[in-house]
Amino acid sequence: MELEEIKDLVKLRLSEKRFNHSECVMERCIEIAKKFNQDIEIAAKVGIAHDIAKEMTNEEKLEYVKENHIEIDEVERENPTLLHAKIGEDIAIKELGFTKEMGQAIRAHTTGITNMTLLDKILFIADRTSKERGFPDIEYVNNLLEESIDKAVLYIIDKKITLQIERRAAMHPDSIIARNYLLKNGNI
Ligand SMILES: [Fe+2]
Ligand SMILES: [Fe+2]
Repeated sequence: MELEEIKDLVKLRLSEKRFNHSECVMERCIEIAKKFNQDIEIAAKVGIAHDIAKEMTNEEKLEYVKENHIEIDEVERENPTLLHAKIGEDIAIKELGFTKEMGQAIRAHTTGITNMTLLDKILFIADRTSKERGFPDIEYVNNLLEESIDKAVLYIIDKKITLQIERRAAMHPDSIIARNYLLKNGNI
């Protein structure tokens, strides 16, 4: 499916604010993809679509995973908002013509995942450092990106984990798994 068509479908499901976030993530994905000589079109598509399921209610999310036989874990059951990643992957593959690889980037965008692909990493970083967020360490992240993308991913995972600790909130195991993988195998 063409980018413009995807944009229109995403827009139908999101508030103006969230759609604006999605557009900013798309721009940031393009920026990072260029830096690493990746396909701009693919990066743009995952960027615009990554939060397509974000504004479903918790009930709708739980219903969706049940109806579509998507396996969920305990942390997701307690925090259904996390499910927007897995549901977004499913919708993008079924309704937007995404490949498995593009779907995986959406699945991994909130928590991270073991052995992330370059596309997974681009979206993961873009979602946290898009323009409208006013991320305070943007220059620091950009400097890390000059050194290696893994350093930037690790930095963002650490930030997310720290935030969860401060909030005394549950941590998704995939974040720990992603972090352990990077520490052992990443270019950090
Ligand atoms: Fe998200
Ligand atoms: Fe997002």
